[in-house]
Amino acid sequence: MRTQVAIIGAGPAGLLLGQLLSRAGIDNVILERRSADYVLSRIRAGVLEQGMVDLLHEAGVGGRLDHEGLVHDGFSLAFNDALHRLDLKKLSGGKTVTVYGQTEVTRDLIEARQALGRPTVYEAENVALHHFDGPAPRVTFRTNGQEKELHCDFIAGCDGYHGIARASVPARSLQTFERVYPFGWLGLLVDKPPAAHELVYANHERGFALCSMRSAGRSRYYVQVPLGEKVEDWSDDAFFDELRRRLPAEVAGAVQTGPSLEKSIAPLRSFVAEPMRFGRLFLAGDAAHIVPPTGAKGLNLAASDIRYLFDAFREHYRDGSNAGLDGYSARALARVWKAERFSWWMTNLLHRFPERDGFDRRIQEAEFDYLVHSRAAATAVAENYVGLPY
Ligand code: APR
Ligand code: PHB
Repeated sequence: MRTQVAIIGAGPAGLLLGQLLSRAGIDNVILERRSADYVLSRIRAGVLEQGMVDLLHEAGVGGRLDHEGLVHDGFSLAFNDALHRLDLKKLSGGKTVTVYGQTEVTRDLIEARQALGRPTVYEAENVALHHFDGPAPRVTFRTNGQEKELHCDFIAGCDGYHGIARASVPARSLQTFERVYPFGWLGLLVDKPPAAHELVYANHERGFALCSMRSAGRSRYYVQVPLGEKVEDWSDDAFFDELRRRLPAEVAGAVQTGPSLEKSIAPLRSFVAEPMRFGRLFLAGDAAHIVPPTGAKGLNLAASDIRYLFDAFREHYRDGSNAGLDGYSARALARVWKAERFSWWMTNLLHRFPERDGFDRRIQEAEFDYLVHSRAAATAVAENYVGLPY
């Protein structure tokens, strides 16, 4: 087998790159370790920056997003019983975010790829990358009990944090930066209308809580829990009780409970691997970096990486220029680090840190008070939340 770009991983990053390349007439094959059903069963975040919405349109998958996506002009921050709305649209000069689940983005991209008849090998086993430091890279894998070999010009490592792409790079060529937070988020999905029309991020003595949504009839809630907590130990009732304790009364009173469709605990981590390019291997999305979910940046960073990487491939094939490929890592990392900073900052503002004391709590209070009273401070948050320019 031979292709121009071998894409490892059929998450949002890999699928979006595949779709953009296919529409530009650049041949590509996606290799995915899991089944399509498994990929579609993962519940993840879903707040899209305008840049990502535009990119999905460019990829030809903006139709359902336009119909079903919820455009949000703002969100609220709560501190104990105080509730403060940030008007994103006003503060950012007209920008908004769109609430549309990552699962839906993935579904749209899978369907679009099927419609174009482009190949995705699901349940590809033992994916291994070879010779990406030279002119003729190769990917080997096993499918339906057969060993296969894929020759290509380039490899795009879009296989997430636990993938094989980053792990294939010699340790001496890679520098990593990491922060692990001493808590996780317990999330619950329920078929009830959301407690508020917009997202509410809450800092409470008992810990962080978030009211989010997937649609007008489906809510997504989170509470901060200590590391090591087990999801089996949290009944739906216990979850909702804890959630309501952490929200201002007016929001808590509007929470509608029901049986959970899904409940899981996610750890919080900040991670960056540098550089994002090694010869003919390019990393994108979670394969290269992780942010804690607090700023809703994970999916959006995958999209901005793909924006830069797609432009670079197009320049290479169409214009015969390697400038985009050569500049990819520096360009992507400059944006990644700003999103890392914002996600880290929001995480620090809103969570209860077990090892910290009254001083840190007062600093959080002062930060919140500053946001409420300073337009400059609120503008800085809004500008980052809606997404820095590509
Ligand atoms: N071979 C082939 N595929 C692999 C391998 C492997 N060795 N390892 C992992 N994969 C696949 C995973 O099964 C997954 O489907 O790569 C895909 C990576 O997808 P994601 O983890 O979703 O990562 P990405 O596409 O970068 O998406 C960005 O945004 O909201 C955030 O973290 C969230 O996943 C989200 C991310
Ligand atoms: C979600 O809806 O799952 C969600 C929303 C905003 C975040 C994180 C997660 O910051």
